[in-house]
Amino acid sequence: MTAVPDRLALRADLLDFDADPGWASPDPATGLVPGVRWRPDHWLLVEAGRITGVQPAAAFTPDDSVWSVEDQRGRLLMPGFIDTHVHSPQLDVIASYGTELLDWLETYTFPAEMRHADPAVAAAGAELFLDALLAHGSTSAVVFPTVHVSSTEALLAGAHRRGMRLVTGKVLMDRHAPDGLRDDVTGAERDSRDLIRRWHGTGRLAYAMTVRFAPTSTPEQLAMAGRLMGEVPGLYMQTHVAENRAEVAWVAELFPEARSYLDVYHRAGLLNERAVLAHGIWLDEADRALLADTGAQIAHSPSSNLFLGSGLIGWPELEAAGARVSLASDVGGGTSLSMLRTLADAYKVQALRGVRLTAWKALHGATLGAAEALGLSDEIGRLEPGRLADLALWDWAAGPVATHRDARARQLHERVFAWMTLGDERNLAATWVAGRALFRRTPTR
Ligand code: GUN
Ligand code: ZN
Repeated sequence: MTAVPDRLALRADLLDFDADPGWASPDPATGLVPGVRWRPDHWLLVEAGRITGVQPAAAFTPDDSVWSVEDQRGRLLMPGFIDTHVHSPQLDVIASYGTELLDWLETYTFPAEMRHADPAVAAAGAELFLDALLAHGSTSAVVFPTVHVSSTEALLAGAHRRGMRLVTGKVLMDRHAPDGLRDDVTGAERDSRDLIRRWHGTGRLAYAMTVRFAPTSTPEQLAMAGRLMGEVPGLYMQTHVAENRAEVAWVAELFPEARSYLDVYHRAGLLNERAVLAHGIWLDEADRALLADTGAQIAHSPSSNLFLGSGLIGWPELEAAGARVSLASDVGGGTSLSMLRTLADAYKVQALRGVRLTAWKALHGATLGAAEALGLSDEIGRLEPGRLADLALWDWAAGPVATHRDARARQLHERVFAWMTLGDERNLAATWVAGRALFRRTPTR
C-alpha cells in the first residue's frame, strides 16, 4: 500500500450533494436542481486523510514542495460510493442462473457460504471482496459475511487494515438452513459479544447484529439480537425484509402473531435509526409508517430485484411516508458491485412503474443520502472540509460509444445521466480511502 501523503491536492471536476435533490426534474437549460453541488475544475485539498479545503483551479496553484499534486483535470471526482447492502461470500455465486430467492438460497448461496467455514477460504474471500469494492469505487459498505466467526473476523480485519468504513457482523441463523450453516442462540450470543468487544468502534468499524432474515432465526434468536441492540450503544442491525412473495407468505406462516413481516423485527426490538433492511418491496402503508417512526432504512437493491425477479419497489412512496432509502448492490443476488450499474438499474425499475429517477436523486442515494441514513454524514458522503477523504475518480466515458455520447451532452444532467447509465468499473481511474490511494487503474495518466 502507498504511504499516506500528508498533503494531497487533487484537481478534477467535483460533484457531490449538500441536500437531497428529491424527485424534481432537472432544469432544462442547466440540468441542475437544488442540492447538487457542481464545482468544475477545482482543487480538493486533503491533509492527514481529511478534506481541508476546496479551491477553484483558476484561483489556486498548489506548491508541489508542500502538496503531493495530482492534476486529474477533465476527470470527475466524487465521494466514494456507499453500498448499504452486499454479501462478501457471494462473489462465489454472482450471476447464477434460473431461480427466485428461496430456490437461489438453497441451490447456490447456502452451499457457497458453507465453504467459508474454512478460515483460509474466508480470508481469501474477504481480501478479494474488499479489493473488489475499492476497484468499483465503493469505499464504505454494510456487509453480510457468513454465519462463521472466521469469515466475520477476516472481513473486519481486512477492512481495518485498509482503513475502510465498514458495518458488518456475524450472520445469525439458527433454523431452516443446512448443517454447517446454523448457529444456536447461546453460541451466537457468545460469538457476537466477543466480536463486538474486539471490533465495534475499532478504527472505522461498527458492528451490526446481522439477522439473515426472519425465516432463518427462531423467535428466541431474534429476541437475543434485540436485547443486544438495547444494551450496546451504536450497534447497527442488518437484515432482509419483504423481498419476494413466497418469502413473505412463509414469514406469515412462521410468525402468525405478527401484523406483517416488518412487524416481526419490530416486536423483537430490532428497528431503530441504525437498522438497515434490504429490499422492502412488499410493504404496506402501516409498514412504511413503521419505518418512518423507527427511523429504519430500506437498502434498495435494484439489480438483485430484477435478477431474482423479486419485484419493483415503490421508492417515492416510501419517502412520501417519511422512510429513508439508500442504494445497494446486494451482490450476489445483484449482478455487479458497480454502484453505477446499480443506479442504472434503479432508473429502469422506476421506469417500469412510470416514475422518472434523475441521476441526481440516484447518486445522492449512494453518497450523502446513504451517509445520512447511516448516521455517518459527519465522516463520509460529501466533498466537504472535515470529512475523511474517501474519494473515487472517474473517467466520463470508457469506450467509443460512451465517448461519442458524452461529447453530445448539452447540459450537466444529460452528461451525468449518460455517464451513470453507460458507466461501470471500467470508468474508475482511482480510489482513495482516508487520503490513501488504494486502487489505481493502470496505466493512469
Ligand atoms: N434473504 C435471505 N438471505 C438472502 C440473501 O443472501 N440474498 C438476498 N437477496 N436475499 C436474502
Ligand atoms: Zn442480501
